[in-house]
Amino acid sequence: MFKSIGTFGIVLIMITALIGVALGFGIMGMNHPLPWVMLIIVASIPFIHNKFAAKRYLKWKDEYSVGVEAMDNDHKKLINLINQLQTSVDYYTGKEFEEKALDELVDYTKTHFKREETLLEENAYDDLDAHKLQHKAFIEKIELAVEQYKNNADVTIIDTLKFLREWLINHINGTDKQYSKVLNAKGIH
Ligand SMILES: [Fe+2]
Ligand SMILES: [Fe+2]
Repeated sequence: MFKSIGTFGIVLIMITALIGVALGFGIMGMNHPLPWVMLIIVASIPFIHNKFAAKRYLKWKDEYSVGVEAMDNDHKKLINLINQLQTSVDYYTGKEFEEKALDELVDYTKTHFKREETLLEENAYDDLDAHKLQHKAFIEKIELAVEQYKNNADVTIIDTLKFLREWLINHINGTDKQYSKVLNAKGIH
């Protein structure tokens, strides 16, 4: 099943393309521009690939901070776990490792949600119910995706990873940040 090109695929493509370039020089000679153009294209493949690969990884930014250190630390850990899962996909570590990374991510997501909800509950946060509903809907969606992935060999985790990245950042920047002022005003940082 084709998942993503990955590093191994890129190396194979480059070796094949370099053979083509060498043949081009052999047939057309060093003065013909075409093999040179091909060589420049081949040389740029790793840069283009890295640019696309970087998009698949999340990077913590200070602007993601919700102003509460414990929650920021949880969010950073979640970002790391999503990236860890992406790494296992990119490097074809096998379904067993992917499943392990996925389980770890789901477990920590639950741990974080519980911790966040408890903190908000202790501080009589007004929008707690709506916030809890978002967490619940997310867990249900992700558990369904995990079940489909584990039970169906044709289901990859790539779309789920995209959903995870987008949901986490949107949730932190939207719903989570709404509690910053309330908690900060109570001296919680
Ligand atoms: Fe949240
Ligand atoms: Fe959160």
